[in-house]
Amino acid sequence: MYSEKVMDHFQNPRNVGEIADASGIGEVGNARCGDIMKIWIKVEDNVITDIRFKTFGCGAAIATSSIITEMAMGKTLDEAEQITNKAVAEALDGLPPVKMHCSNLAADALREAIADYRKRNG
Ligand code: FES
Repeated sequence: MYSEKVMDHFQNPRNVGEIADASGIGEVGNARCGDIMKIWIKVEDNVITDIRFKTFGCGAAIATSSIITEMAMGKTLDEAEQITNKAVAEALDGLPPVKMHCSNLAADALREAIADYRKRNG
């Protein structure tokens, strides 16, 4: 049911944790299942230089959080903002149709973190 990449990111999630002096924090919940995801970003010169996450959720939610941290690291805020849930699912070699909604969490949490950074910095 799950691709090898999903299983890998679920079992060995990358960039788990928090950033104490984060430049922006995004937190979103999924109303359908009650899962919660939080993403911390560190921004320097408009580039995401560090990114961490904590996810209380299903395997697909953990795998998508993990891979989006890899996708966003080193990107400019504008580039990172354009990462779609579809791109996240594709980077994991697909998600089962009933799990596609889980990929929205990661993209939304990242966008929230970027919005938080922009709010803090005018
Ligand atoms: Fe809740 Fe996947 S079932 S995010």
